[in-house]
Amino acid sequence: MSNSIQSVLVETRVFPPPQDFAKQANVSGAAGYQALLDEADQNPEGFWGRMARENLQWTKPFTQVLDESRAPFYRWFGDGELNVSANCLDANLKNGNANKIAIIFEADGGEVKKVTYQQLHDLVCKFANGLKSLGYKHGDRSIIYLPMSIEAVVAMQACARLGITHSVVFGGFSSKSLHERITDVGASLVITADEQMRGGKAIPLKPAVDEAIAMGGCEAVRHCIVYKRTGGKIAWDAKRDIWMSDLADKQSPVCEPVAVNAEHPLFILYTSGSTGKPKGVQHSSGGYLLWAKLTMQWTFDAKPSDIFWCTADVGWVTGHTYITYGPLAAGMTQIVFEGVPTYPDAGRFWKMIQDHKVTTFYTAPTAIRSLIKASEANAAHHPKSYDLSSLRLLGSVGEPINPEAWMWYHTNVGGERCPIVDTWWQTETGGHMITPLPGATPLKPGSCTTRLPGITAAIVDETGGDVEPGHGGFLVIKRPWPSMIRNIWGDPDRFEKSYFPSELRGYYLAGDGAQCDKDGCFWIMGRIDDVLNVSGHRLGTMEVESALVAHELVAEAAVVGRPDDTTGEAVVAFVVLKRSRPEGDEATAIGKQLRDWVAKEIGPIAKPKEIRFGDNLPKTRSGKIMRRLLRVVAKGEQVTQDVSTLENPAILDQLSKPV
Ligand code: WTA
Repeated sequence: MSNSIQSVLVETRVFPPPQDFAKQANVSGAAGYQALLDEADQNPEGFWGRMARENLQWTKPFTQVLDESRAPFYRWFGDGELNVSANCLDANLKNGNANKIAIIFEADGGEVKKVTYQQLHDLVCKFANGLKSLGYKHGDRSIIYLPMSIEAVVAMQACARLGITHSVVFGGFSSKSLHERITDVGASLVITADEQMRGGKAIPLKPAVDEAIAMGGCEAVRHCIVYKRTGGKIAWDAKRDIWMSDLADKQSPVCEPVAVNAEHPLFILYTSGSTGKPKGVQHSSGGYLLWAKLTMQWTFDAKPSDIFWCTADVGWVTGHTYITYGPLAAGMTQIVFEGVPTYPDAGRFWKMIQDHKVTTFYTAPTAIRSLIKASEANAAHHPKSYDLSSLRLLGSVGEPINPEAWMWYHTNVGGERCPIVDTWWQTETGGHMITPLPGATPLKPGSCTTRLPGITAAIVDETGGDVEPGHGGFLVIKRPWPSMIRNIWGDPDRFEKSYFPSELRGYYLAGDGAQCDKDGCFWIMGRIDDVLNVSGHRLGTMEVESALVAHELVAEAAVVGRPDDTTGEAVVAFVVLKRSRPEGDEATAIGKQLRDWVAKEIGPIAKPKEIRFGDNLPKTRSGKIMRRLLRVVAKGEQVTQDVSTLENPAILDQLSKPV
């Protein structure tokens, strides 16, 4: 198991659901939760079939709920047809939400723009008609590389409307990462912006697309559609590039949604695994949307009067499910925020909650921890300096939330009245899996509590046998569920091997270590593979190592994670150069050069926090790098393990000293 195992099961505080909340909740009280659990456990297909019929609009009803004949390549609602965008937009026009605000967009600089469901529908249709006029259609694949904006939601929804499978690339990724994704997915279309605004600065986006395409192998790309965000100067290829507004504005606001099979890939989203190459996680249309909508209603207790705010970027799965699809399918009003939590100051989140009367706020522990520090440094940025009385529910996602941060969030942001839903899930699961239901589940700070109805989460040993409460093991999901990953794009072997290893009885292996307590509450202990979680973002150690060794100065590199107060984990790289080991100023200069290199190869989120140079790396006599020891050294701790199998034990001393 990874280094991030935390001291768990020490937390004894329990917070029952507030009575007022429970009374009005979509799932109310322990009995409400238990009834759904029982229904799903006793007759899973009946349960999922009922949910899918009641919650989605099908253009062709399905007759089979689950097809397991090619497990683990499961098919859900496999002969049904629907359109995801019609379920998110047209459905709201039909049920009286046409003039309801769908999105309140707040720009980095504070400007606010609102669109109703009718307006959003029209924008999506116009853009979809534009794409259609260029010949794009069902089965094509697009890359979306956009800043947080109404346009990003429009682009994703327009693709969904036409049956174009999108793959969104987070704006912080480099041209190299973008290139990898364009070629892997076989995109014929790229949608980007001239620049993005973050923290008062304009950051170019389109140049990265130009660079990526120039790297070769992207011949399938016919157009690059550019959203003019800033009007900054960019290079232009008249044969390929088109302004989004030139394409969309003149089009009709009506575009017939294309009915697709429930299993049609709605999107492919790349995420880090334990090897160097990110995996293209392929999601479905029907099963995915069903879970996006249901979890909005269950976990977030979605109500017509809510103002929902998920602070994630649409470049990550959280932004897909809880910005672009879930809140719209549930007919909510939501905030889309372009900027960062610390600009113009660290009170930004609290001010936005106050200004827009946000009721439901969903963010990451990293953001909370950094805002705790900022509010301690300056009381003006403390949540207590703002009116946060509109809040009724808080959420956390992406990494374990430490009990101290949980308590601060509960007290200072939630005014001790708002339940906190600590939602455990993954890119691969499509939506929440283990989480409290705010009107039903007693909360324990630091635990994501209990499984959602229909989700057969369990802790098992290496042979798939159940592990007793209080003991650690592998977190698995025993039975398939509708929003599960369908495949790794172009790599079915890797899909089977990574997620359904033969020794685990066909269970889905999440890649997290965890334990259950006697109440059935789950405590996540950290990844069991070489995946780090830095600020809630997944990062493969191998990915960073491959980037480092691609630098001309580097002979060898080993990357490990180290616990970090703010970012959860931090990247520490141990590097052997082709030349002699640098010291002093030279080591600092080369360290900076390598950090910038990693930012260019992958993206700034992958930059090592620290680089240490050695004459060698600690290796066994058979040449295997002992990462376990490097993790100890990275933490600044003394190595107490037996090092007799090491070929070169003295190297540990050298690597123990930060540069
Ligand atoms: C971790 C993000 C503890 C976990 C939605 C998982 C969490 C990985 C939690 C998935 C949580 C996510 N408590 N750990 N509430 N939520 N994780 O694919 O290690 O970016 O495997 O999906 O984040 O990260 P991903």
